[in-house]
Amino acid sequence: MKKRFFAICLLASIFSMAQESPIIPQPASLTMGKGRFEVNNKTQILIMGAGLEKSAKYLQDYLKQMHGLQLNISTKANIKGNIVISYAKPDAKKQKANASTIIPGAYALDVNQNGVIIEGENEAGAFYGVQSLIQLFPYTKANTLSIPQLSVKDEPRFAYRGMHLDVARHFFPVEFIKKYIDFIAMYKLNTFHWHLTEDQGWRIEIKKYPRLTEVGGFRNGTIIGRYPGTGNTNTRYGGFYTQAQIKEIVKYAADRYVEVIPEIELPGHSSAAIAAYPELSCFPDSSTKHPSNTAWNGPTSGKQVQQVWGVFEDVFAPTETTFKFLENVFDEVIQLFPSKYIHIGGDECPKEAWKKSAYCQQLIKDKGLKDEHGLQSYFIQRIEKYLNSKGKQIIGWDEILEGGLAPNATVMSWRGEQGGIEAAKQKHNVIMTPGGWMYFDHKQSKNEDSVTIGGYTTIQKVYSYEPIPKALSTEDAKYVLGAQANVWTEYMTNTAKVEYQIFPRMSALSEVLWTPKSQKNWPNFEKRLLQAFKRYDWMGLNYSKAFFDPANNTPEPSK
Ligand code: ACM
Repeated sequence: MKKRFFAICLLASIFSMAQESPIIPQPASLTMGKGRFEVNNKTQILIMGAGLEKSAKYLQDYLKQMHGLQLNISTKANIKGNIVISYAKPDAKKQKANASTIIPGAYALDVNQNGVIIEGENEAGAFYGVQSLIQLFPYTKANTLSIPQLSVKDEPRFAYRGMHLDVARHFFPVEFIKKYIDFIAMYKLNTFHWHLTEDQGWRIEIKKYPRLTEVGGFRNGTIIGRYPGTGNTNTRYGGFYTQAQIKEIVKYAADRYVEVIPEIELPGHSSAAIAAYPELSCFPDSSTKHPSNTAWNGPTSGKQVQQVWGVFEDVFAPTETTFKFLENVFDEVIQLFPSKYIHIGGDECPKEAWKKSAYCQQLIKDKGLKDEHGLQSYFIQRIEKYLNSKGKQIIGWDEILEGGLAPNATVMSWRGEQGGIEAAKQKHNVIMTPGGWMYFDHKQSKNEDSVTIGGYTTIQKVYSYEPIPKALSTEDAKYVLGAQANVWTEYMTNTAKVEYQIFPRMSALSEVLWTPKSQKNWPNFEKRLLQAFKRYDWMGLNYSKAFFDPANNTPEPSK
C-alpha cells in the first residue's frame, strides 16, 4: 500500500513537472496541452513571409549545434507536421486602439499534435517565438526531440530591455561579445549597451586618432585584488575592437534583434584618451596621478592610462580642441552604429580641474554659467546639439541632470531611482538601472568567495525590481522606457567570471522587463529557475549557485 502511494506521488510529480512550462521570461499567457510533438531530421522549418529567414536560420543553427539535428528550411513544405514561422494576421482593431503604446515583439506559439506554429507580429516577434520554442527541447542530443504541447500568446512589457558590458576595465574578445549578444537574445532583451571607453582603456578604433588605441588601448599594469590592491600585475594589458570587428558585431546583434548602443565617456573617465592626446586635458603638462596607497608599474611622469580603479580628476577640458576632437570621434562612431542612441557617459566627473583652470573659470563667466555643474551641462548640451544634428539622441548617466538637463536627453538612473523620477517629471525619457537591483557586479551570495566590487544583490532582489517608481504619476510613468543591468568589470578578469556574475540574475531581469506585472510570481519563477540551471549546464555556462545557499534566502530590507 505504502509502495503504491509513493508510486502515485512519483507519477503525480512527474506529471506535474511535465505540465510546467520552462519558459523564461514567463509569457503573458500560456496554456499547457496534454500531448507532445516530436521533432526529428524530417521536420522542416517552413517560413511564410519575407524577413523570417533570420529566425529560421537561428533555429536551424541551434538545433544543429546543440542537439545534432539537421532541419531543412523551406518556403514550400506542408504546414502539417512541421515548424512554421509566419506573421500574425494584423489585428486592425488592436493596432488602431493602441498605435502609440504598442511595444513591438508580440508573438504566438502553438505546439499541438500537428506541429509547431509561430506567428510574430513583426520579425522580432517571430524571433522571440523561436526563443520560447528553443526552451521546450530536452537537454539531450538525440534523433528525436519530444516537446510539450502548449499555446502561448506573448508580448513585451517594456520597449527598452538592456544589458550593459564594460569592456574597458577588462577587455573581452569578439567571440565573447557575440556570445554575450546571444545571452541577451535568449532572454528576449533587445539592447546591448557597450561601454567602450574608460580611464583604464580606450577600446574602439578611431581612424583619425590612431593613438587612442595605440596608446589609450593599453595600460602598463593593473592593481591586484580588491582596491587599493595588494600590488600591481606589472604586465601590459589591453586591446581594442577594429572598426571591421565592430561592424561584424553590430550585424551579429541586428540578426538577433539586438541594438548596440555605444558609450563614449565624457567629460570624465577620460584618462585613456588624455594619455593618447594630452591636449584634451586642462593641464596637458601635469602627470597622471594615482592614489598613493596603490601600486603602479612603469613611468609615472606624463599622461598615463590608469592602472587603478576609481574616479580621477584629470578630465576633458571644455575647449574648442576637445569639442572638435569629440565631434570627429562621433563622426566615426555614428558610421559604425545605426542605433537611435549614443551614450555619452556624463557620470562621475570631478570638478577640481575645472575649478583650478583659469580657462574654465573664464568660460563660466563668458557663458553666464552658474558654476562647474553649469559647465558640465554646457559640455553635454554642446555634444547633444552636435549628435542631434546628425540624427542621434543622447543617453547620459543621471549626473547629466546636474546644472540642467540637455533638451532631448534620455537619463539612465543609476544612483538609485531619484534621477529617473526627476527626469520623468521633467518629461524626459528614462532608463532605470538603480544600483540596488540592477548592478550585476555586486556579489549575489553572502558566502561569495571571489572578489567583487561590493554590494549584495540576490536573484530574488533582481526579480523584485519594479521599473516604474511609485513616485511617478501614470502620465510621467510613460517616460520610463525600461531598465537595464550593468556589468562593470573591475573584478571580472575573464569571461567565465562575467558569466558567473550575470547568470542566473539575467533570467530574473528578463521577467522584470518582459513579463506583465500581473504574471510575475517568485515561487513559480523558482521552479522554472531549476530548469534554467539545467539549461546553463547544457550550454556549458559558468553560473552562480548562490540560489541554493540558505544564507541568501533571508529577505533583505527593501530599498
Ligand atoms: C556608474 O556606475 N558610474 C554609472
